[in-house]
Amino acid sequence: MATTAELARYYTTLDAPAVDHLQRLVASWGLLADLCFADLLLLARVDPARAVPGVAEEAEGARERLVVLGQVRPLTSQTLFRGDWLGDVISVDERPMVMRALRLGEMIEGEITHPSLREQVRVQCIPVRHEGRTIAVMTRESTPTVGRNLGELERAYIEVFNRFVRMIAAGQFPFVDEMGLGEEAPRVGDGAIILDDAARVEYASPNAISALHRVGVHANTEGMRLTELGLQENVVRTSYSTSRPATEEIERGPEVTVLIRCLPLIDDSDGVTGAVVLLRNISELRRRDRLLMSKDATIREIHHRVKNNLQTISSLLRLQARRLPSSDGKAALEESVRRIRSIALVHETLSHEAGDDVPFIEIVRPLVRMVEEGLISPEHPVRFKIVGDAGNLPAAIATPLAVVLTELLQNVVDHAYPPGLDSTDGHVLLELDNNGRDLRVTVTDDGAGLVPGFALEKSTGLGLSIVRTLITTELAGTIEMRLGPGGGDRPGTVVELNVPLAADAPADPLNAAELDDLSAEGAEGGGARGARVPNLPPPVPGSPSSLTGSASSRDRGRTRPPDAQRPPAGGGR
Ligand SMILES: Nc1ncnc2c1ncn2[C@@H]1O[C@H](COP(=O)(O)OP(=O)(O)O)[C@@H](O)[C@H]1O
Ligand SMILES: [Mg+2]
Repeated sequence: MATTAELARYYTTLDAPAVDHLQRLVASWGLLADLCFADLLLLARVDPARAVPGVAEEAEGARERLVVLGQVRPLTSQTLFRGDWLGDVISVDERPMVMRALRLGEMIEGEITHPSLREQVRVQCIPVRHEGRTIAVMTRESTPTVGRNLGELERAYIEVFNRFVRMIAAGQFPFVDEMGLGEEAPRVGDGAIILDDAARVEYASPNAISALHRVGVHANTEGMRLTELGLQENVVRTSYSTSRPATEEIERGPEVTVLIRCLPLIDDSDGVTGAVVLLRNISELRRRDRLLMSKDATIREIHHRVKNNLQTISSLLRLQARRLPSSDGKAALEESVRRIRSIALVHETLSHEAGDDVPFIEIVRPLVRMVEEGLISPEHPVRFKIVGDAGNLPAAIATPLAVVLTELLQNVVDHAYPPGLDSTDGHVLLELDNNGRDLRVTVTDDGAGLVPGFALEKSTGLGLSIVRTLITTELAGTIEMRLGPGGGDRPGTVVELNVPLAADAPADPLNAAELDDLSAEGAEGGGARGARVPNLPPPVPGSPSSLTGSASSRDRGRTRPPDAQRPPAGGGR
């Protein structure tokens, strides 16, 4: 949908400062619609040279036309228009008064028969002045049957509206450099106080009085200054002395926050003659802000505790390993210690981050360090080099990937440089590349290379089985392992991983059920996945049996939480 500025730039000959002025008017005119209990339209003259889409040129030449640059409905009353007028181009004949107001730069009032409403519509045409020129016309559209009876509140508001109207016609409203407060901006219905030229309360709406009660003001407000009521008057004083709006938040204890906005009413000859003070009780908004902030802090704290717990587990396993007599057992426990520590690293990083994404490089570096530490007086010194960056990854991808990287780096240490290989240093290159759609991770060593006949699918080692499960099933990616480009007895090994980033993130970073399957594989003596236990009935989603057996990875996916509980896909990854 087009904006006021886009429409003005397309249809009119107005220059940038004028368009800016109209944009500011539209940003703050909700207040005006509320004060006059009526719909407002903003109209400007269409550049005759501009072809209007869908409107054929009349034979007698370009007829004058108007474009609707803005429309706002009152929150304090019924609307006259059910339709959206923004961007409509109309003939001047439909609203001849608008053209006259535009030409003469004068306020013009009259009645028209509206084509879609069967009623007469009262149209008040207010010239919008900017730097001495009338650049557009704001119309207030009302019918006698729609609207409210005039009580004290209505009379007070309409009187203020008319003062704003004079300011618009004099080029004093919208205020210069004022873009409004956006969503938080108080509207008239939230509570309005009208101040006189000495900043004394002339009128306070019922909602304003309620808002004042919230901040502990119970006195009768009429004729009083806000300071006399016990409110700091900074906003009022600022806006009276600068002729500009001012905004302040007043807090009463930890629970109550009221937003106060003061808009000066300006008269050409007398300067500031009064003000409208809008009050909005934003306690609930601020409470939610605080809640969100504390929720974020809680999540970080939990990541911190998970990390601590994982570290404790890995320490306990390490203690156990030291007491084991068998070196096989020791090695197995040490491997587990490394796997657990790699997961702990992700939680540690998440405990420093605001969201669920982690800069993966901050996990890779300590991971490499961890593997380096495990090289106890090796025959070959091995040097690791990291190239590129993986960018920010959601925890659901970062966690399995950290476990996978640990396995790959450990394999280099364990297998690439066997005793007896020539004793020059080993060089390992870890390359990361994130193009926004896929993540590519390559680990290249210059060691002995894969044994003849090695095939990833047939490999039964636990390390590569974990890698396969996590990459293909959990992350829907691919793995390739091949001999490296080196010569002689050191061809080296290249492991290349490709992981799609746009796909649905897995529900839980490490799916225990999928890892459980590894034990089934082991029990069967290994072999290709998917060839196990054929012809079982289809799994019942959610039932425990669907987590095992022949369920394909997709079936297993059904046991995950529904989409609503997952992190949103796409965006930012
Ligand atoms: N970088 C590498 N260089 C040479 N061989 C490797 C490399 N990575 C893996 N391998 C081979 O793959 C096999 C399986 O590895 P893995 O599944 O991690 O089990 P494990 O490390 O316990 O032997 C290793 O025994 C080794 O033969
Ligand atoms: Mg291994």
